[in-house]
Amino acid sequence: MRLKDKIAAITGAGSGIGRAAAQRFAKEGASVIILEINEAMGIEVRDAILKEGGQAEYMGVDISKWEQVESVFALIGQKYGGLDVLYNNASVFSGTKDAPIDALDVDVMEQILRVNLFGTMYCSKAAIPLMRKRGGGSVIHTSSSCGIIGIPNCDAYSVSKGGAISLTRAMAVEYGPDGIRTNCIAPAAIHTPMIYESDLNKPTFDENQFLTQKTPVRRWGQPEDIANIALFLASDEGSYLNGAIIVADGGITVT
Ligand SMILES: NC(=O)c1ccc[n+]([C@@H]2O[C@H](COP(=O)([O-])OP(=O)(O)OC[C@H]3O[C@@H](n4cnc5c(N)ncnc54)[C@H](O)[C@@H]3O)[C@@H](O)[C@H]2O)c1
Repeated sequence: MRLKDKIAAITGAGSGIGRAAAQRFAKEGASVIILEINEAMGIEVRDAILKEGGQAEYMGVDISKWEQVESVFALIGQKYGGLDVLYNNASVFSGTKDAPIDALDVDVMEQILRVNLFGTMYCSKAAIPLMRKRGGGSVIHTSSSCGIIGIPNCDAYSVSKGGAISLTRAMAVEYGPDGIRTNCIAPAAIHTPMIYESDLNKPTFDENQFLTQKTPVRRWGQPEDIANIALFLASDEGSYLNGAIIVADGGITVT
């Protein structure tokens, strides 16, 4: 019970990594708040956790809209009196629309940044006062391999993931003195619905070559691989980690 009595909000907890983290956090004793735009998926995860004897609540929100974020965190404050963990996990990849900067449609650019970058900033802004009420907390941001190395054809997504790293470092310095730690996970090649928007969907993609030549651990990452890292950062075991960027990609970005 590494998160016993902790209140943890996870954005995008209806799918993939967020879903795995919600279930993992609940098993470790957290009250999990599922912040998710897709109501059906959010409710499904909530019900799965309740069925396993955990504590979870679904709160519908589009993190790209400040008014919605503000009101959902006000509700968290009213119901729970504070917040211990914010896992900023939700993002969109928009692989078929994102592009090199000169070919990038301005509306697509803005939409990706609104969800990934502004959404992360909005949730962080709203969560900090609630963490202060609990005397500290843990914020976990989500970057990507494209925040670490250059990856073509996803410039808006890359900017959003670079922003997650910069925000991690700024918040670590700003809120460390208040007992609020901020860290970031930079995953790659995790087998979730999101990767079907990437190269994997193209007829030219050779999965065997990707796994045997580009992926040192020779397998896809699983959502649980990342959920375990998030659990460590959320728990008191990660109490001296602040401002860390944890690259969790099986070694892809060091090949
Ligand atoms: N899967 C990978 O290989 C990979 C690689 C690098 C980084 N990441 C990052 O990991 C995180 C989780 O990715 P995933 O693969 O689990 O993706 P996913 O697509 O399976 O899940 C993303 C979730 O975010 C939700 N969401 C999207 N827009 C939202 C909004 N405006 N408001 C609230 N919720 C919203 C979706 O409904 C979905 O449930 C993302 O930040 C992603 O960029 C994933």
